[in-house]
Amino acid sequence: MRASKNLLAASIFAGQSLAAKMSACFSESFSFPTILGTELHSITASLVKGYKGFVAFGRPEAALIEPGGVDFCNVTVSYKHPTHEDLVSVHVWLPTAKYNERLVDLGGGGWAAGEVGAEVMTGLASQGYAVASTDGGYDHNHFGTADPWLMKSPGNLDYPLIVNFAHRSLHELAVISKHIVAEGYGAKAKFAYWHGCSTGGRQGMAIANKYPDDFDGILASCPGVDYPALVLSLYWPQFVMNQRKVYPHACEFEFLAQAVTKACDGLDGVIDGVVSRLDLCHFDLQTLAGKVIECNGKPLQVSQDTLEVYKAILKGPVDPQGNELVGGATPGANLVGFLGIANTVCDEDNNCARGRPFTIATDWIRLMLKKDPQFDPAKLTHEEYARMFRDVRQEWGHLFGSNEPDLGRFRMLGKKMLAWHAMNDQVIPLSHMRGHFDKVRAADELRGITTSDYYRYFEVPGASHCGAADGVAYPMHALEALRSWVEEGIAPEELSTVVLGSEGNRAGTPICDYPKVANWENGSFTCRESGGQPDNSSKRQKDEL
Ligand SMILES: *[C@@H]1O[C@H](CO)[C@@H](O)[C@H](O)[C@H]1NC(C)=O
Ligand SMILES: *[C@@H]1O[C@H](CO)[C@@H](O)[C@H](O)[C@H]1NC(C)=O
Ligand SMILES: *[C@@H]1O[C@H](CO)[C@@H](O)[C@H](O)[C@H]1NC(C)=O
Repeated sequence: MRASKNLLAASIFAGQSLAAKMSACFSESFSFPTILGTELHSITASLVKGYKGFVAFGRPEAALIEPGGVDFCNVTVSYKHPTHEDLVSVHVWLPTAKYNERLVDLGGGGWAAGEVGAEVMTGLASQGYAVASTDGGYDHNHFGTADPWLMKSPGNLDYPLIVNFAHRSLHELAVISKHIVAEGYGAKAKFAYWHGCSTGGRQGMAIANKYPDDFDGILASCPGVDYPALVLSLYWPQFVMNQRKVYPHACEFEFLAQAVTKACDGLDGVIDGVVSRLDLCHFDLQTLAGKVIECNGKPLQVSQDTLEVYKAILKGPVDPQGNELVGGATPGANLVGFLGIANTVCDEDNNCARGRPFTIATDWIRLMLKKDPQFDPAKLTHEEYARMFRDVRQEWGHLFGSNEPDLGRFRMLGKKMLAWHAMNDQVIPLSHMRGHFDKVRAADELRGITTSDYYRYFEVPGASHCGAADGVAYPMHALEALRSWVEEGIAPEELSTVVLGSEGNRAGTPICDYPKVANWENGSFTCRESGGQPDNSSKRQKDEL
């Protein structure tokens, strides 16, 4: 008998008898499950008290972290794939004071396979979930390029690590975290969930496709569906600017986004600063030609060239004949600043001479496609860039597995997927996820399957990539909605939101189950089939709300 008293004593919450059974938080209490092709390197375990996480990307889930932090048994399992020269670490946190008998595995972001210890992981552990995440076997610096771990030498990619990132380490995370939870608490988790945003959302899609049995429910937020082509498309704004040798100032892009937002805000029947009826948003950008705005205290005229660049960005990547390759950016979404895809480099007189591409997009062009760290994407011709959309899908599409419309195995196993996308996402355009979901629905319809029985999708007005600005509604409790669906069979008709703000948080407008759209009628909110005109006879201004 090891000294499990401290854990036992901590298990004071009613109904947490499983926590009481948790064996001592020592490495000897845990073992490595059998996974073909892997070999244990080490297991460590130690108690952590009052952990408050750290800020990675300012995710709203930080609000879930309790003031005193979270107490947990920190189990780290490191293993190898023999001959592949990797060392993968899975981090499993077993809350000791308050355990709700559910496991949540967390996805990564950008090039990272997982995010260990940041807002979401700590927030969910704080709520009583056992949580786990993997590093995929490599260390990625979010503010650098992927060269250090992805390129073994010019011409040679580290293929095993790419497979880890794409899907392998995620399945292993599921197997290992379930095993560690069962050993830690003396009983399996009652339910296991996937929770991921951006790359993490893409990973959720890949898991539903490749490992449908791993989780009871998958929450995929702002997912990077059709990932390889999507990432390539994030270079499009830069490509357009290079082709035209026109580099608009961030002030101009911000002005254009605000103008569209202002024009389309009220189409849902309420002026609240965000666009929700994109289906009705047909703003004529041309009306903005020649407008003079203030930029860094100086006047700046919005040129016709700038308007043409913006229109091309909204249209999205096309081939030299003008055929659409993938969807374009969302009207009204901000395209500059943190994670922006249309950033430019300008001097203090507002002269802009070049673009500043999104690193992950240029990584994909240089490394994943060209295998040449020195390759300069600015040199791409239109033919070459367009051809890359086919090449990238052929070479990487199946490996990443995030664009499969037939989720039959997942559905037949009775699993549920809840996806949401931010309508003001500055990096992943809404059009990608919407296109994917429409494809899933069309494929299901052909076979007489009702998609909403196992897969639902919500579009969140005003929200940004995996987050929301102060004052904007965020679906903070999407995981709880997924749980009700999985555990009680209550399918979410609407998704509740929380508006974060410096004066405290409050409930926001619920989000409609796509393709239903939000509408305000006679002062009350409803979700209705799209296509119809809103009854805006009672249109109110924000300050009347
Ligand atoms: C958990 O343990 C690992 C391995 O020792 C360590 O690297 C990590 O920092 C620990 N996490 C926390 C939150 O203490
Ligand atoms: C809103 O009010 C109008 C005018 O009174 C009425 O005709 C309409 O039916 C109402 N709509 C709803 C949804 O109650
Ligand atoms: C309501 O909105 C529609 C669509 O934008 C518009 O055509 C119509 O004129 C508006 N009606 C009122 C009363 O504002």
